[in-house]
Amino acid sequence: MRPPRLPRIPASEITDEAVYRDRRRVLAAFAASPLLATLPGCAEAEPPPAPKVAISAADARAGFRTDEPLTRYEDVTTYNNFYEFGTDKGDPSRAAKTLRTSPWSVTVDGECARPGRIALDDLLRGLAPQERIYRLRCVEGWSMVVPWLGAPLGEVLRRFEPTSKAKFVAFTTLADPRQMPGMRYRSIDWPYKEGLRIDEAMHPLTLLATGLYGKPLPQQNGAPLRLVVPWKYGFKSIKSIVAIRFSERMPETAWHELQPSEYGFFSNVNPAVDHPRWSQKTERRIAGTKSKLFAERIPTRPFNGYAEQVAPMYAGMDLRKWY
Ligand code: MTE
Repeated sequence: MRPPRLPRIPASEITDEAVYRDRRRVLAAFAASPLLATLPGCAEAEPPPAPKVAISAADARAGFRTDEPLTRYEDVTTYNNFYEFGTDKGDPSRAAKTLRTSPWSVTVDGECARPGRIALDDLLRGLAPQERIYRLRCVEGWSMVVPWLGAPLGEVLRRFEPTSKAKFVAFTTLADPRQMPGMRYRSIDWPYKEGLRIDEAMHPLTLLATGLYGKPLPQQNGAPLRLVVPWKYGFKSIKSIVAIRFSERMPETAWHELQPSEYGFFSNVNPAVDHPRWSQKTERRIAGTKSKLFAERIPTRPFNGYAEQVAPMYAGMDLRKWY
């Protein structure tokens, strides 16, 4: 995702994306070459495979877990998009240590009977964390398989008793420039904002995540509380949430506001609709033994492979228009 207003670097210094991609391809090919692999220090050794997980038929049917190879913990936590901490994939893991995640509270308001500001512990009280193993497909064309921990968003939202006027749910990330060095770039009109239609928010696959790999979420992955919506492009999965609002109208979202011709509100993963600047037909899967250097291209599936669970929500909608 290269926002048009970012960064303020002279055009002459910016590497053309095609050249950049080609350079990465060449470097990866070098690293994979048998000759170089014998020279110590020249090539990254292929990492050991991540453990395979057994899943029940019911979990597979619900889409709650997949037995595809997991992305290694070190890749999930060092290859991130969290623009509040910088725009390079390695920036968040380096810079997000300054994010204070406790105490943390969330303001819930709008079309509901029980609005208020609530401490994180109270928000999740009584909800045992569930493990969900989801594919995460970024609109940029890479993907991971991540074992999340969290609570179904719907179970949390129902506690606030949304009214019949609550047609959408809007989410907001913390915006504190003292903790978030990337905010000095006016790339996005901070705070980062996202939204879902109410039926999407209540869908059993939609997760309010608090952890991954059985541990609390690292800051760079959106601690202490983030959304995970596995059938949508990754930018819908908003991090470090401080506000939730039930609304009658479709809320504005950060990427749509920045570039409406490129990022829609629904943003369901759809290989049949290309991004205006690149194809969405395939993705680079960073998983198993495939670290970011060895990732292979695989076909992208409609709704990121969750069509059976979610496609009925979009019956009658022109998914080319509302990709
Ligand atoms: N949330 C906030 N607040 N800021 C961001 O820049 N990036 C989004 C999403 N949530 C982003 C965000 C994008 S583009 C993706 S692909 C995912 O977070 C990446 O999540 P991960 O770093 O845990 O893989």
